[in-house]
Amino acid sequence: MLLVLSLTSLRWVIMLLLILSVSSSSSSSSSSSLPRRREEEAAAGVCSQADRAALLSFKVRIVKDTTDILSSWTGTDCCAGGWEGVECNPAGRVTVLQLQSPANRGYMKGTLSPSLGNLNFLEVMVISGLKQITGPIPDTFSNLAHLTQLALEDNSLQGNIPSGLGRLSSLQSLTVAGNRFRGQIPPSLGRLTNLVQFNLARNFLTGPIPPTFQNFHALQYLDLSFNMFSGLIPSFVGQHLHNLTFIDLSNNQFSGQMPISLFSLPNLLDLSLDHNQLTGIIPVQVGGLKSLTSLSLSNNHLNGHIPASISSLQNLWHLNLSRNGFSSPLPETFARGIPSLLSIDLSYNNLSLGTVPDWIRSRQLRDVHLASCQLRGTLPSFTKPESLNSIDLSHNQFTDGIPKLNLTSMSSLQSLKLSNNQLKCDLSEIKLPDTISLVDLHSNQLVGSLSRILSNRGSSFSFLEVLDVSNNQISGGIPEFRQGLRLKVVNIGSNKIAGHIPISVSNLIQLERFDISRNQITGTIPTSLGLLGKLQWLDLSINGLTGKIPTSLLGIQGLRHASFRANKLCGEIPEGRPFNIFPAAAYLHNLCLCGKPLPPCRGKNQNNKQRRMTPEIEMSQ
Ligand SMILES: *[C@@H]1O[C@H](CO)[C@@H](O)[C@H](O)[C@H]1NC(C)=O
Ligand SMILES: *[C@@H]1O[C@H](CO)[C@@H](O)[C@H](O)[C@H]1NC(C)=O
Ligand SMILES: *[C@@H]1O[C@H](CO)[C@@H](O)[C@H](O)[C@H]1NC(C)=O
Ligand SMILES: *[C@@H]1O[C@H](CO)[C@@H](O)[C@H](O)[C@H]1NC(C)=O
Repeated sequence: MLLVLSLTSLRWVIMLLLILSVSSSSSSSSSSSLPRRREEEAAAGVCSQADRAALLSFKVRIVKDTTDILSSWTGTDCCAGGWEGVECNPAGRVTVLQLQSPANRGYMKGTLSPSLGNLNFLEVMVISGLKQITGPIPDTFSNLAHLTQLALEDNSLQGNIPSGLGRLSSLQSLTVAGNRFRGQIPPSLGRLTNLVQFNLARNFLTGPIPPTFQNFHALQYLDLSFNMFSGLIPSFVGQHLHNLTFIDLSNNQFSGQMPISLFSLPNLLDLSLDHNQLTGIIPVQVGGLKSLTSLSLSNNHLNGHIPASISSLQNLWHLNLSRNGFSSPLPETFARGIPSLLSIDLSYNNLSLGTVPDWIRSRQLRDVHLASCQLRGTLPSFTKPESLNSIDLSHNQFTDGIPKLNLTSMSSLQSLKLSNNQLKCDLSEIKLPDTISLVDLHSNQLVGSLSRILSNRGSSFSFLEVLDVSNNQISGGIPEFRQGLRLKVVNIGSNKIAGHIPISVSNLIQLERFDISRNQITGTIPTSLGLLGKLQWLDLSINGLTGKIPTSLLGIQGLRHASFRANKLCGEIPEGRPFNIFPAAAYLHNLCLCGKPLPPCRGKNQNNKQRRMTPEIEMSQ
């Protein structure tokens, strides 16, 4: 079961459980026994004039609604059930306003009306995923004294987080993630002592975590990721917030050492501190996080040895310590394995492992990332290949053994990275599993031809999206591309590939990046290349291509980078964006390319009429 749960889906499960617990506890306070409630609804139930007016003011400020939710807000009784997203109590007062774009399609454009602050009985406000709601959170929201849940996620709200929100003392869940809020967190929010869930992720917030947050005794879920917060991680997090199960402070600018108290949180399941500027070591006390399932500390400046106590974390399935300065050796206790481990990333540290440790090779793991760990010799053979989802052994000194990996036995493999080794192997010996979507073998010593890895046969490789075999010794031609391939990135640059670009390249309708530079490719650029409507990056430089640059390439709207440099091309550069705004360097060292950004053309065979009309072009050459 856990095998199929990705890290993100686990987060969702945690979040969902929290939301459910929050909303069930909030509704229990308002709902009396069910039969009585029905009676009252039948009797009264007509929505209060004031609440209806507040809702209609909100509707007026939404100038466009492609979700169609607000079109159901008609008629006088907003409590009769017809107003989508609106729920009332038996007295006809609005208690729930829940607006979310269905399946994340659609949007609302406009601002939040201050009159929403008049919904005095509101307990739940969810206005999420509507993308184009802009402007600030109105100060009037601080009047919503009964609010237990406020979710304003994934809109385009701006300004500061109003300090008045600190007056919403019933609030259990506050999320404003995925907006454009700036400035610091108002210390007044520390008064929200009933908060269970607090999410400010994906904004532009700055400054430190306010000391007042030590009052969040009930907090279970804290997500401040993807902001620009700085300062130390306060030690009170571990000392006072004992109910925390989820902490994500990743992608900020927190610095200094991790407080030791952080490692005494008995209920913590998930700790993500990656992409900060943390220094120091992982203290041995990390073994105190008895419930921990996921630990991500990558992309910091941590160093020292990885403590042995990590192997005592019975539930740890995800361990990501990549891109720090941890040194060898790994603790001996790891040889007995970390009991629940599924996913390990120790890449880009100061580790000199020599060989892939047996406890990694022989375990049922999903992700094995040991890039730049000074691994040598033959690639390992994994004894539980079926469970592997991603392998990254790039930037090591492996010399052979791709057949020994037995890739076809890895029936779940999606991502394989073996770049920057010294692998000597014939490409035709590499059999990829059908599930694979990313293959990165660049900068090795691979020989042979591309025909097998890109072959036409059957339904194989239909999931392959990224293929990078650049900087090897690959020879032969570029094979035909069949229909139905999903390739988005093809990089075969810096090899010894000869022959033509096949016309069937137009079958790669998903292609975004095509790099065949630094080979021996001849012939003309096929007109059909212009059919690749999603192409963003095209590098044909340093080959032996002849003929013109086809004007069909003007059909590729999104092209951001193109290079035709150092071929034998001739004729006029297609006139139109973006070809004339690429730098001249993209066209230099050809036989006789001309026209903007190079000097104008002058041949008899083209632009005769224009030449007669503008003789100064000829004179300027
Ligand atoms: C912490 O969680 C437990 C169990 O959910 C609960 O009983 C307790 O009241 C919580 N503590 C605080 C301070 O909310
Ligand atoms: C570890 O974290 C980095 C980002 O910090 C990420 O790129 C990498 O994929 C993670 N490794 C695994 C195995 O999830
Ligand atoms: C890298 O690890 C070695 C021991 O394996 C150690 O002597 C050296 O100081 C470490 N370098 C850094 C920068 O931590
Ligand atoms: C590769 O894996 C398959 C299926 O698991 C197995 O039958 C075969 O013997 C393996 N080959 C090698 C060389 O280990």
